[in-house]
Amino acid sequence: MDPKNNGNLLVLNAMMLLPEQTVLGDLRTENGTISEIKIGGGLEPNDNEQVIDATGLHLLPGAIDPQVHFREPGQPEKEDLGSGSAAAVSGGITSFLDMPNNKPAITDMKGMQMKLDSAAATCVNNYGFFIGATPTNLAELQEVVGTAEAPRAIPGICGTKVFMGSSTGTLLVNEREALDRIFRGIGGLIAVHAEDEARLNERYPSFEHRTDMAAHAEWRDDVTALLATQLAVELAERHQHRLHILHLTSGLEADWLEGRTSLPSQAEGKGIITTEVLPQHLTFNEADVEREGVRLKMNPPIRYQADMDILWRRIHDGTVQCVATDHAPHTLEAKAKGFPAAPSGMPGVETSLPAMLTHAKEGRCTIEDVVRWMSANVADCYNMTNKGALRQGHDGDLVLVDMEHEAEVTDENSWTRVGWNPYRGRTLVGWPIVTVVAGVPVFERTPETGQKGQLLVKPGEAGTAIEMAPWI
Ligand code: DOR
Repeated sequence: MDPKNNGNLLVLNAMMLLPEQTVLGDLRTENGTISEIKIGGGLEPNDNEQVIDATGLHLLPGAIDPQVHFREPGQPEKEDLGSGSAAAVSGGITSFLDMPNNKPAITDMKGMQMKLDSAAATCVNNYGFFIGATPTNLAELQEVVGTAEAPRAIPGICGTKVFMGSSTGTLLVNEREALDRIFRGIGGLIAVHAEDEARLNERYPSFEHRTDMAAHAEWRDDVTALLATQLAVELAERHQHRLHILHLTSGLEADWLEGRTSLPSQAEGKGIITTEVLPQHLTFNEADVEREGVRLKMNPPIRYQADMDILWRRIHDGTVQCVATDHAPHTLEAKAKGFPAAPSGMPGVETSLPAMLTHAKEGRCTIEDVVRWMSANVADCYNMTNKGALRQGHDGDLVLVDMEHEAEVTDENSWTRVGWNPYRGRTLVGWPIVTVVAGVPVFERTPETGQKGQLLVKPGEAGTAIEMAPWI
């Protein structure tokens, strides 16, 4: 690390994605906080700061990934918090929210504390964790997130994850009564994996003998997703509870949600409902699934071009607020079992920002849209304090990207411990050149480092527990 950097950084001549405009200029952080933004440039370097000349680069607020599976504890051959965090900063992600379907599943304060302690020691960006709901852990949930009347907000704890349908791991709450108890009884944000377990089980016998990947999306169809989404919305509305619907995949759900969701900062009162999509559901269709096979097996599945088109329409019209990755690494060895035995899930944190910025370059959206979906709106959805925008007083979490430099995605350049990437063979732009956490450059990609890039800090040297205001 540059000895002058103590969270003191001066970025010169960048095309800055400010909240209200995109404009050339300089940005300074002091002690990790954005202290000065000068449109047009002209800031003079101080003695005690590191200087980066960002000519030709875009400066974005660091991406915030609200759904990752970093596999700790229990599956270090796939990922752990340290390796996942390193992979994330290589993709310009300065903050992440991690899921509890671990081995064992994280369902109480002891498990949450274990993750918080490990993240403080091994991560290089900011972290938050979901606690997992089970049909019987209401008291444990309340200890962590409080009750509806008295929500708790502990730094680094972002809400409760409910798997309404079975996926990877053992977590499952599918009975209406159990779900109702949770929506009635706990505080904080509830995030749901919305697939209807009864319909999955009922239809399984018709598909269990199929060995072609197309069967996956046929079995876990859009009605399966819609039924669970509708139930979650019903419960959130009945109990006026904050609900976030994870990884929306179907046109059916996205159309049904129109008028039912709103960004918290623009909503009135309680019971706010938000949702997200993944870059893979905005990029891959049935032809990609046929070509790539089980690498693209995930839950809910990659669907059809018609679904993708509606997801794009609904993220543009604001029905969908943000973009997450659902980074869910599985080893190639496990994937080699083929369909249907291969586990569901794919890595995502290294390529989500370039994938979305490539869509921007190709005209499907703008860079400003990407910043809203991957930074500002995520901070809004989770009530994060001082995150998600290049604004004076906000945390100095930044990413400098190169919109001109094209590079092909290869498995070899992966940071994730599983060593592969679902975008292999695709040429993307918008690669992070420098990723900055609280004013400290933590990652760089230069001609000397090659396309893979390098970490600039040691495990635990950057990143803190994300502060999120309670939902009241
Ligand atoms: O495909 C998936 N993989 N969907 C999930 O819900 C979980 C994830 C995992 O943890 O592997």
